Amino acid sequence: MTAVNDDNPPRAGRPSVYLETFGCQMNVLDSQLVRSQLQSLGYRFTDDWKAADVVLYNTCSVRERAEQKVWSRVGEVGVHKQQRPEVVLGVIGCMAERDGTDMIRKHPQIDLLIGPGELDKAPQLIDNRLKTDLSSRGGARHAEVALQGNTHRRSATLAAAEDSLELLDLSRSFSPDDDMAGGRSAYVRITRGCNKFCTYCVVPHTRGAEVHRPPDHIVDECRKLADQGACEITLLGQTVNHYHYDTAASVTVNGVAQPQVGSVLSPNRGTGGPSPVFKPGVVSFADLLARIHDEVPGIQRLRFVTSFPRDFGNDILQVIKDRPRICRYLHLPVQSGSNRLLKLMNRGYTVEQYRDLLDRVRAYLPDAELATDIICGFPTETEEDHQATAQLLRDGRFKNSFIFKYSPRPGTAAYDRLADDVSEADKKRRNNELLAIQTEVSREVHAAYVGKTVDVFVESISSKARKTALNEADPSVTLGWERPVEVTQLTGRTDGDLIVCFDGPPELVGRMVPIRIQSSGPLILLGDLAEHPATA
Ligand code: SAH
Ligand code: SF4
Ligand code: F3S
Repeated sequence: MTAVNDDNPPRAGRPSVYLETFGCQMNVLDSQLVRSQLQSLGYRFTDDWKAADVVLYNTCSVRERAEQKVWSRVGEVGVHKQQRPEVVLGVIGCMAERDGTDMIRKHPQIDLLIGPGELDKAPQLIDNRLKTDLSSRGGARHAEVALQGNTHRRSATLAAAEDSLELLDLSRSFSPDDDMAGGRSAYVRITRGCNKFCTYCVVPHTRGAEVHRPPDHIVDECRKLADQGACEITLLGQTVNHYHYDTAASVTVNGVAQPQVGSVLSPNRGTGGPSPVFKPGVVSFADLLARIHDEVPGIQRLRFVTSFPRDFGNDILQVIKDRPRICRYLHLPVQSGSNRLLKLMNRGYTVEQYRDLLDRVRAYLPDAELATDIICGFPTETEEDHQATAQLLRDGRFKNSFIFKYSPRPGTAAYDRLADDVSEADKKRRNNELLAIQTEVSREVHAAYVGKTVDVFVESISSKARKTALNEADPSVTLGWERPVEVTQLTGRTDGDLIVCFDGPPELVGRMVPIRIQSSGPLILLGDLAEHPATA
């Protein structure tokens, strides 16, 4: 590992960076933070990787396919570097952590390897690397490596939780310059890592132990984002509802409250289950939601992903019910409808408990929309297990499901202990059968909205509209409004996270508008602006 030199001055020139992100919202947020740090050091960003001085891939390891995409990119950059050897190639994120230095042995064109737990060091490592190249161009090269390796689970005590990653989160720039709904939507991390160790999953190995951020930092960050114009905030955690912070045990270093390591053995949520009891001084997830909602009125929509089905207490449902600006949307991955498989997956709940949770959600929040994740073809999955999952999908009435074929991941317990014994043909068939069921359910869920007027937070110009605009000389038309407006197809979401497309002027991106739903399909709702946008 190369030492990080804090004295490096900002670069005189303006090297350009291409940064491509794969994987989940955590990675999207990490990329935003790395980008803003690099910008503050004077780097500029480009969309053309061939023109960049630094090519960075922020990677995902969750399934083999996610990794394959990156391997092909790394290969392309390897060819490119035969002509431009000075280009710096960095692989950052979960793949870097999972593959470790093996990756550099296999692909010597990689100059930087930085795991998700070391991203605070990215700007200095990139800077070091570029400087080395400028001074020793053509000479021997060695890669800069910052990984947590096997040490990252040692931080089991509170004192060891003094981590500089918190500073990376705290460093975020609050200029609304990113491309999420024109800067009006933002992610805020509340928990890092994961302690669940589901047997198929790499995340606890790549992201490390569960660590909860101090509630004051989170509320402050939300307030600053709202002051800068953010209307929608999505709280992020792999098991987001598992958030808890014991203020009585809070540790401060140099005046900065430190994140707290979650408990590995117990959920640390009092009695857990539907009616948890917390120790005095513990800020629970329900408390945190209530605080953000009540203390930051500028946030029109407060979302959170991903919820873990176990320990989803009624306290959280009550807080959502009482607070209109917390979205009625829950992403509750179930993974399987078979108790035998849930046990093999180490999920820690039964199908009956999951169904009870769905009933509780619908009792507290009758208008909520739900989504889930399913893994099909997990080792030993029988036709009967598969049918149980199919039945759960029919009964669950999810607005959508993310259905994945099991992908064995080296380093996980399932990879070590269970043969990948469901044939590819069976995985594919089961996947298609589940997709067909979900498509039908999604069609019905969406159809129930036709004729209703819903509030839509406008996220972007739809990609179809963007393509059309490029081909049309003048997309401006008059719609009976006072001035000609450029009408294009816009995309946004309802409170329940349903995707809505409608025609309207591009300046509506980042605003909340009422849309009358005219028609629907399994994936989207189509509608019209219900009011003149000036009064919306
Ligand atoms: N923390 C979240 C999920 C993170 S990974 C949770 O526990 O719900 C996102 C999804 O990828 C998982 O819900 C799971 O459905 C899927 N997934 C994870 N590992 C996988 C694997 N090895 N093969 C196939 N799908 C996987
Ligand atoms: Fe992976 Fe399970 Fe943690 Fe989700 S809860 S990130 S599936 S180990
Ligand atoms: Fe992928 Fe890492 Fe997210 S493995 S799903 S990028 S936490």
